[in-house]
Amino acid sequence: MSDSDQTKTVRGVKLRRDPAREGCFTVVELHTDLHDYDDMSDVSRRQRLHRHMHNEMQTLEIVAQGLADFPDAPWELRMQLARQCWDESRHSAILYRRLRELGGRKGEFPVMNYEWGVTQLLNSLPARLAVQNRTFEGGEMDLLRQQQNMWSLAGDPPTALLMDALLADEVHHVRYANRWLKQMAHENPRTLLQVVAGVQLLQKITAALAPEPGEVNAVGVNLTEFTHAEVMTNVGDRRLAEFTEAEIADLLRKEGFGSLVASTTPGT
Ligand SMILES: [Fe+2]
Ligand SMILES: [Fe+2]
Repeated sequence: MSDSDQTKTVRGVKLRRDPAREGCFTVVELHTDLHDYDDMSDVSRRQRLHRHMHNEMQTLEIVAQGLADFPDAPWELRMQLARQCWDESRHSAILYRRLRELGGRKGEFPVMNYEWGVTQLLNSLPARLAVQNRTFEGGEMDLLRQQQNMWSLAGDPPTALLMDALLADEVHHVRYANRWLKQMAHENPRTLLQVVAGVQLLQKITAALAPEPGEVNAVGVNLTEFTHAEVMTNVGDRRLAEFTEAEIADLLRKEGFGSLVASTTPGT
């Protein structure tokens, strides 16, 4: 298959073509085409669960594709990938069930395969672990802690509890990737080059697809304000996932909490 058969171009950058989807799904390519709401109305609650469900489906596909693409990876790492597939399929099913309990349905909102589009361009397992587990799922840990509070404040303790349960699994997915990346880098410094290549590609694509100031999505929400919604670094879980204190301090600095870093770093 030629490269052009496997990729698509969106806003000037190359992405892997979308995975197959059931006919009920409307697949879009930009955040402007999504229906992300900025409140906790009934339709927004369904949309949040729908988007999350689809994200878990995508993660399952990404990790399963990693198993297929890197058959020579160490057996224990392949076992971790396989266990993650089980977790992600369970996460999708749990969110689908909750979506239906709130009156929603599969395909009710447009979906986007951004994470798939980026990770499937990466031709090494260290790069995929760095981008998918360490970056995307690391960010999801921050988001899930925030969402747990949001659902709880919105008077929906069952969904808040679900977020907490998913978070426990995500910590493990990030931690095993951190451990393997550290070990692989120790055994072969070339691993670091692969990680850097992955992170640089992610930065390039993220910059190209980032909304312009004032750009609104399909339901009229201002995307540049929306993306600045308060998602704070989840320091406790990032420690559990074995990010270093220096890495956590760096995240806090980027959020404008540089002056607090000393007090969050043990021994300083
Ligand atoms: Fe998950
Ligand atoms: Fe995960």
